Amino acid sequence: MSNETNERSDDGADVSFDPGHFRTVMGHFPTGVTIVSGMNADGKPHGFTIGSFTSVSLDPPMVGFLPQVGSTTWDAMATSGSFCVNVLSDEQSDLCWKFAKSGTDDTRFDGVDWHAAPSGSPILDRAVAWIDCSIEHVYDMGDHHFVLGNVGALDADADHDGKPPEPLLFFKGTLGGFGAVG
Ligand SMILES: Cc1cc2nc3c(=O)[nH]c(=O)nc-3n(C[C@H](O)[C@H](O)[C@H](O)COP(=O)(O)O)c2cc1C
Repeated sequence: MSNETNERSDDGADVSFDPGHFRTVMGHFPTGVTIVSGMNADGKPHGFTIGSFTSVSLDPPMVGFLPQVGSTTWDAMATSGSFCVNVLSDEQSDLCWKFAKSGTDDTRFDGVDWHAAPSGSPILDRAVAWIDCSIEHVYDMGDHHFVLGNVGALDADADHDGKPPEPLLFFKGTLGGFGAVG
């Protein structure tokens, strides 16, 4: 594995940064998997797979995530002023890939069961948890936005045939499940 240090030009600019190495190293940080959903201006559901979801503040309750600049899905749902974060379960790996495929934003909800959160954004059936938000602010950060949301409603652990739902995890490009070690 490379541990090369970055070289700097006379004006201090980084001239040897390797985006592939950055991606590989960041892939060693495991994340949960969510589908962030919302409605477009015509009242149609949109959503995409997002690993950068994070809790931000308890008082007031705020969460955030980072969509890529130019995302068709983000552009479609941003005008609604709200979004819903759906935490996927380990039985929803198919939805993870389906909602991550570029150019399919119009058809991702085909065959997917959902109902509306208080904001109107979709709650996916059998998600581990959902967090319904109004958009507080969108910050530009390099090639991503940081979307900060005020939490309006949330819930977890809906019944999964009498079993507690288990989360889906993403690590080094692969999906897996949670195993307690301590
Ligand atoms: C596990 C996983 C996590 C992802 N996390 C993010 C993320 O945090 N931000 C992002 O912009 N894209 C993320 N993606 C990629 C988007 O889902 C994908 O680029 C998007 O669905 C493409 O559609 P769009 O062009 O309509 O945005 C992730 C993909 C996967 C498989």
